Amino acid sequence: MAVSASPIGQPLDRVDGRLKVTGRAPYAFEHRTPQPAAYGFILGATVAKGRITTIDSTAAEKAPGVLLVMTHRNAPKQAPFGPPTVPTNRFQRARPYLADDRVRHWGEPVALVVAETFEAARHAASLVEVSYAAEDKKIGLREHLSEAWAPPKIQVGLKTDTSIGDFEAAFASGEVTVDAEYHVAQQHHMALEPHASIASWEGDALTLVTATQVVSSARACVAATLEMPKEKVRIVSPYVGGGFGGKLGVRADALLSAFAARALGRPVKVAQTRQQIFYVAGHRAESIQRIRLSAGKDGRLTGVSHDVVMQNCPTEDYAEQTAAQTRSLYGAPSIRTTHRLVNLDMQGGEPVRAPGEAPGMLALESAIDELAVKLGMDPVELRILNDVQTDPEKKVPFSSRRFVECLREGARRFGWADRPMRPRQRREGSTLIGYGVSAAMRPNYINAATAHASVSPDRKATIRIDMTDIGTGTYTILTQVAAETLGLPTKDVTVLLGDSLYPQSPGAGGSWGAASSATATLEACRALKAKMDAANEPVALEATGSVKAMKDNPDYKNFAQYCFGAHFAEVAVDEDTGEIRLRRMLGVFSAGRILNAKTARSQLIGGMIWGVSSALFEEAANDARFGHVANGDLAEYHVAAHADVPNVDAVFLDDRDDKANPLGAKGIGELGICGAGGSIANAVFNATGVRARTFPITLDSVI
Ligand code: MOS
Repeated sequence: MAVSASPIGQPLDRVDGRLKVTGRAPYAFEHRTPQPAAYGFILGATVAKGRITTIDSTAAEKAPGVLLVMTHRNAPKQAPFGPPTVPTNRFQRARPYLADDRVRHWGEPVALVVAETFEAARHAASLVEVSYAAEDKKIGLREHLSEAWAPPKIQVGLKTDTSIGDFEAAFASGEVTVDAEYHVAQQHHMALEPHASIASWEGDALTLVTATQVVSSARACVAATLEMPKEKVRIVSPYVGGGFGGKLGVRADALLSAFAARALGRPVKVAQTRQQIFYVAGHRAESIQRIRLSAGKDGRLTGVSHDVVMQNCPTEDYAEQTAAQTRSLYGAPSIRTTHRLVNLDMQGGEPVRAPGEAPGMLALESAIDELAVKLGMDPVELRILNDVQTDPEKKVPFSSRRFVECLREGARRFGWADRPMRPRQRREGSTLIGYGVSAAMRPNYINAATAHASVSPDRKATIRIDMTDIGTGTYTILTQVAAETLGLPTKDVTVLLGDSLYPQSPGAGGSWGAASSATATLEACRALKAKMDAANEPVALEATGSVKAMKDNPDYKNFAQYCFGAHFAEVAVDEDTGEIRLRRMLGVFSAGRILNAKTARSQLIGGMIWGVSSALFEEAANDARFGHVANGDLAEYHVAAHADVPNVDAVFLDDRDDKANPLGAKGIGELGICGAGGSIANAVFNATGVRARTFPITLDSVI
């Protein structure tokens, strides 16, 4: 008898792949509306701080096709912006727009112009005359460091500062020490699909088709803002073209389309332009990080210290957990971390893929490399020497930690033994070749989720959950989990996502989406399978299944749950021009059971590429004169393109973590970017002997 391979883990092609490439998987803006939609265009403020004194919309209102100009004078009553200090519901609180005459940052919406076509709305928006009383503003992190303050908590409710042992004493007596300051630029998530929404009202009930990562947060935010019951808000988000944190919450397009559609009594579509997205979705705040390390001559760390200062805005207290991984990655008798914020008159920082670890590990993994150079040690061996199996701060064992295996396996596959031992040792003409290594580490989370599974008499199954697929492969992995659990071929499983009519999930964020929604699907299908097995004849059956939140799961208290990995990079640097070219990059990861080998690899590679981009290209330049992003479009804000990432590969250790969930799977969405840039920076040092501490690394800094 032929035994078919278990569906879970197989590199199954995306079940929505054909729909995607044939244009039948609509993004928010492409959905059809019950009646013809009107189009809204957002007008953004052209000062960074101040008050609107006058708005003259006469010419705009007379322009052809214009239906409505909404400003703070005629916007609906909204709840005030919710309290800033509730890390768990940042995206569920009220988010008013056009609510007053204040301007808090450049680009903040000051009007919505609605017309029969997008072009008419955009033209009319250019006719709205807004005058401002500008006020003194603060732009520039380094210029305002003296105003740094300590937020009560950092992201995901972690402690702002921590300390074990006596770091200062350890550092003072360290045989070998590193004391270095790193700077990571402001970065923007620029998903393929711009932020866009379509609102339609039926009586007092709103349907909002919107690009969101988390349906339940979108629903809660809209209901809170408009002070209406959640049950009257339906969120529809079946296909999302990337999120990266920028769509964890709904933004101006969602709220303003809802306001305008209600005012006009017809559907309204609002899409943000690429340039506008620089001002509506937050960004990864710029950071300045000081890292101090002390070690014995044998390479054993005696002290680790990581001090972070990041940009914030006056209405928030959003602090990325930038030094959090430093509390758990390497063992040392003394470890201290601090996080500080500087309030500037810009939009605030928001979660961007691997909030915290992405900038934090870029700095930490550079510093570890600096220590290896000072010690004259192989940086792979230095990391292995300082590996721990018990979390140094929480004093609990890791649920699984195969960091050393990732390093060893990566070194073997990459040919690390063949690396140039000293900077400027290997050259090809005027090109210097260097190798670099870095760690990857990212917390593993799970959140409460429920899924509904049903089967028809002809044994076709359907899964319903409000989880989203932001391009990551959710449809596919849930199909695999359901097929395997129900004993059905994958073609007989249909997965329905992204609708608030379905049972609630935590959505796609924090790398918890796959494990949470797949575990709920597993439980629903187990319950359904039991009913199928008990039924004597083909009948329609259904069941639900759930997974509990981390706080209700002792395995997330008694164990430190993380994913691990190691990045290896080879770069070529032109000695004359400073041009840095990645030649090849390999990531080896331990991330629990892999649900789909193909989509998982794509996730990891995507993250690694962003790591390359962080190290070499991405930087938003804030113009202190006006407070805008001087390079706020994709022509000037550089991201890695194909030619920049010629050969990037990701492989997984065969793994399963039974503490994570019944599937043994862990989150991987953000693991790939964690530390990735460090391997690039360390390879640049190995090539050139120049230690870059400012990211992105510019050509002039290496010649
Ligand atoms: Mo992620 S920054 O939680 O989408």
